[in-house]
Amino acid sequence: MAEPFHLLIVEDEAPLREVIAEQLADRGFLVEQAGTGEQALERLSAFAFDILIADLHLPGVDGSTVVESAVALYPDLIGIIITGYGTVKTAVEAIKRGAADFITKPFQFESLMHVLNTALEQRRLKSENAYLRSQLEERYRFEGIIGRSRIMRDLFHLLETVAATSSTILITGETGTGKELVARAIHHNSLRRSQRFVAINCSAIPETLLEAEMFGHVRGAFTGAIANRPGRLEQANRGTLFLDEVGTMSTALQMKLLRVLQEREFERVGDTHMVRVDMRVIAATNSDLTKMVADGRFREDLFYRLNVIPIHLPALRERKEDIPLLVQHFLQKYALGGGPSGAPASKPLTVSQQAMRKLMAYGWPGNVRQLENALERAVALSGGRSQIELSDLPPEIQKADEPSVAQDLALPTGGIDFSEFIRKIERDLISQSLARTGGNKVQAARLLNLKRTTLVEKLKRFKEES
Ligand SMILES: Nc1ncnc2c1ncn2[C@@H]1O[C@H](COP(=O)(O)OP(=O)(O)OP(=O)(O)O)[C@@H](O)[C@H]1O
Ligand SMILES: [Mg+2]
Repeated sequence: MAEPFHLLIVEDEAPLREVIAEQLADRGFLVEQAGTGEQALERLSAFAFDILIADLHLPGVDGSTVVESAVALYPDLIGIIITGYGTVKTAVEAIKRGAADFITKPFQFESLMHVLNTALEQRRLKSENAYLRSQLEERYRFEGIIGRSRIMRDLFHLLETVAATSSTILITGETGTGKELVARAIHHNSLRRSQRFVAINCSAIPETLLEAEMFGHVRGAFTGAIANRPGRLEQANRGTLFLDEVGTMSTALQMKLLRVLQEREFERVGDTHMVRVDMRVIAATNSDLTKMVADGRFREDLFYRLNVIPIHLPALRERKEDIPLLVQHFLQKYALGGGPSGAPASKPLTVSQQAMRKLMAYGWPGNVRQLENALERAVALSGGRSQIELSDLPPEIQKADEPSVAQDLALPTGGIDFSEFIRKIERDLISQSLARTGGNKVQAARLLNLKRTTLVEKLKRFKEES
């Protein structure tokens, strides 16, 4: 038998800790216990455990800090967080800080074992992932998702960590921001990668057919049901179910979906026996579900079930610094099959600076998809030229207004009050960034490349001044 795993459990509730420790020992783990974060850190500084199970809420040093320090010390260590009900958000923070997964109290011991085994399996795959990571050293792409802005690099990091879990994910973002691309990237980096990724576009299937499409049906369940047919949920068993445009689902179906998410089982249409499924659910929407919940058009309980790990994809106009890289990427993609014979272009295609300025100035309501289409079209129009010119771009993009810094900042003949002017620019940029991020100071600060504390200080100062 392989060497047993050394495991440290840190939990301040002694009875709970002892019960878990005992059960783990029964399963062959070599278990040590700690009652505080400080004690755990002390043990960790002296001994390289394989696994650390830490309660999130501890007096003194909290669980996620313990996991973070442990993983910093031993990159190979598996950290698992135990969290109380309603603190999933903090648990997700812990994952960002290096925990492999989390489990919510109260839990069955078997669920803990499941989380543990998954994490151990994940570690076995690490040699493969080392390859992934070496590719990510160049942090500008992740599974075909391109981006160099801070917001996208943070996203890559988040994707890498959430892929390892089985948590439900809700991806939000405007049309064409890459929601489906991201869902597939998560699946391909998860333990479920060898199983199916099953996508259902809830808005593309007529309401009357959607239920049977999802849950399957038995023969004779309705007119036209000539045979038993498994639904998409069954196809997704052991894999990932991607529920696209989930905001368009009827209230009746929302109810049924909620039940599946809670029970992990359902009935085919016209049937009475239960089908069990084990699937990872990723939902996506370009509508504002919180608003739909407020208006009573989307079930609140379903929203919380889906929104366990929220991933928001920013609009392209909020990360213009990604545009040059995306342009390069799409030119490569379309120039390859470019010639009439499909022969690779002999010289790499470029974009004139003039055209690039327009590409950067345009608002991109259709986001990356629209940029991709515009470039595909431009490549076709460019014939054999080695450079895309302004005239190759769609008319609406040619018309985009370029922001003129010089014009805005031209010194008026009568001069200005320098300090007042700078203050006005500061206020203006900060209020724009807050508006764009719905008042989220962390994200707003990121947009401005400011420390959050700096932003807060400035806000305080504005308040005092007004
Ligand atoms: N960051 C990116 N890097 C490279 N390609 C991208 C990126 N984001 C999106 N794309 C490409 O843009 C197109 C649209 O992406 P996708 O279908 O994932 O968008 P979506 O958010 O699901 O849109 P919709 O809401 O309209 O369904 C795809 O061809 C995708 O490959
Ligand atoms: Mg989509």
